[in-house]
Amino acid sequence: MKKRKTQLIKPRIREILSKRLPKGLVDLLPKHWVQIGDVLILPLREELLPYKYEIAKVYAEVLGVKTVLRKGRILGEFREPHYEIIYGKDTVTVHKENGIFYKLDVARVMFSPANVKERVRMASIAKSNELVVDMFAGIGHLSLPIAKHCNAKVIAIEKNPYTFKFLVENIELNKVQDRMTAYNIDNRNFPGENIADRILMGYVIKTHEFIPKALEIAKDEAVIHYHNTVPEKLMPKEPFETFQRTAKEYGYEAELLESRIIKRYAPGVWHVVLDVKVYKR
Ligand SMILES: C[S@@+](CC[C@H](N)C(=O)[O-])C[C@H]1O[C@@H](n2cnc3c(N)ncnc32)[C@H](O)[C@@H]1O
Repeated sequence: MKKRKTQLIKPRIREILSKRLPKGLVDLLPKHWVQIGDVLILPLREELLPYKYEIAKVYAEVLGVKTVLRKGRILGEFREPHYEIIYGKDTVTVHKENGIFYKLDVARVMFSPANVKERVRMASIAKSNELVVDMFAGIGHLSLPIAKHCNAKVIAIEKNPYTFKFLVENIELNKVQDRMTAYNIDNRNFPGENIADRILMGYVIKTHEFIPKALEIAKDEAVIHYHNTVPEKLMPKEPFETFQRTAKEYGYEAELLESRIIKRYAPGVWHVVLDVKVYKR
């Protein structure tokens, strides 16, 4: 149903813009885009930039969104998007997915459509008697599904104060205040030790630096969902080898339960998630 709708949308956009753009450019119009709530993220090629406002207006009108952002990069410690507003003003929206409401500012908070499978997987991963610690909570991307659908207790840690504001709002919006608590701190300063049955490490590039802290938070036996980015040439040994070596250094055995590819991160680099069981020796 959704596919048919998209199939009708593309020719409509093309038809309108073919009357307004120089010949040849119509073929370069984006055929894929990301819609988060009522905000659109549009990838635009260089050649189309002189017409970006006109193009954005047509996509907004045909797709019925309030704001259009030109897709850019996601950078830095807080994994913040660098997107340009090319139509509309308001970039705050509520995105509904798998029965969860995610309120966020799409221009300033990362929300990856490619991570949807992992968000959905989290919705049935935990038992209701578990304590889950999300070390890189964002707006609750991965831990709201656990609190909402598994009924487990969740501690969500988010360092960026702006993102944290949405995390707190989302806990209320999804009515999980009784079981989900948020901390606006660097997870390295989180005081809990030996408390978690399950730990989420939804981060990339430097996640290995946080393994010792995760082990400190973990109970003597726990499951860690360890995300990281890995060059293809080091797979499949990595990233488990690094995790296991670090765990050993800190007195833990690590057993790989499952390994999944989340998405291609860059040419030759993959974002993967490992489910690892750790045991204190
Ligand atoms: C890439 S986002 C991912 C969100 C979510 N875990 C997911 O996988 O979809 C990572 C989040 O971790 C936060 N973060 C980065 N370093 C942190 C730290 N040391 N302590 C707590 N939060 C941190 C960032 O601000 C950002 O919101």
